[in-house]
Amino acid sequence: MQKKILVLTGSPNKNGNTSILVKRFVEGCRHREAEVKVVDANGLKYKTKGCISCRACQKLKTYRCVITDDATKILAQIPKFDILVFATPVYTFGPSAQLKLLIDRTYALVKCEGTTPVGPLTKMRFALIARASGGPEALVPIQRTFAAAARFLGIPFNSSLVPFAGESGGVRGNTAALTKAYAFGRRLGL
Ligand SMILES: Cc1cc2nc3c(=O)[nH]c(=O)nc-3n(C[C@H](O)[C@H](O)[C@H](O)COP(=O)(O)O)c2cc1C
Repeated sequence: MQKKILVLTGSPNKNGNTSILVKRFVEGCRHREAEVKVVDANGLKYKTKGCISCRACQKLKTYRCVITDDATKILAQIPKFDILVFATPVYTFGPSAQLKLLIDRTYALVKCEGTTPVGPLTKMRFALIARASGGPEALVPIQRTFAAAARFLGIPFNSSLVPFAGESGGVRGNTAALTKAYAFGRRLGL
């Protein structure tokens, strides 16, 4: 069956490393005839500075955020996809703040029945595409964070990590990194 993949990107650099690698990743997915949509979290407009922890979403029977802005529209689309991919540069050992604002709003897509999480996110697969200027150790905390989220949700998780990505745009001539991104797309798109 055709895979449906939603990529949330979080770099402020339109032609930076994240954008370059996501393009190759998408090509790999499409090689498998997967349906791919890319949403740039950097361009979204919010009414609040991220999730305000009002917990109103947890009292609803449905899975939605009660704040109506650009994030609400993305949250409504997420359940239509099989795979949610987070693509981000490493900023201070985590995802960029631009992406984190959107990630926190996905709180509305999970509720807990006792200690068991339920909701749309528990039916998906998570994937992470992350790059850092530093070596492999610079990517350990972000990898652990997303793996822990997937473990909590009880869903599969895959990652493609690019150390030594250099400054913005530095991966353009990095054939190994580009090949890896394409191969990751082919793998997830199957
Ligand atoms: C605010 C900021 C924080 C960063 N923090 C880290 C870090 O903790 N570790 C690291 O290896 N690289 C760090 N970097 C480097 C970026 O991860 C790297 O340059 C990345 O490839 C940029 O991707 P982009 O071109 O998509 O913006 C940081 C860069 C910025 C601007």
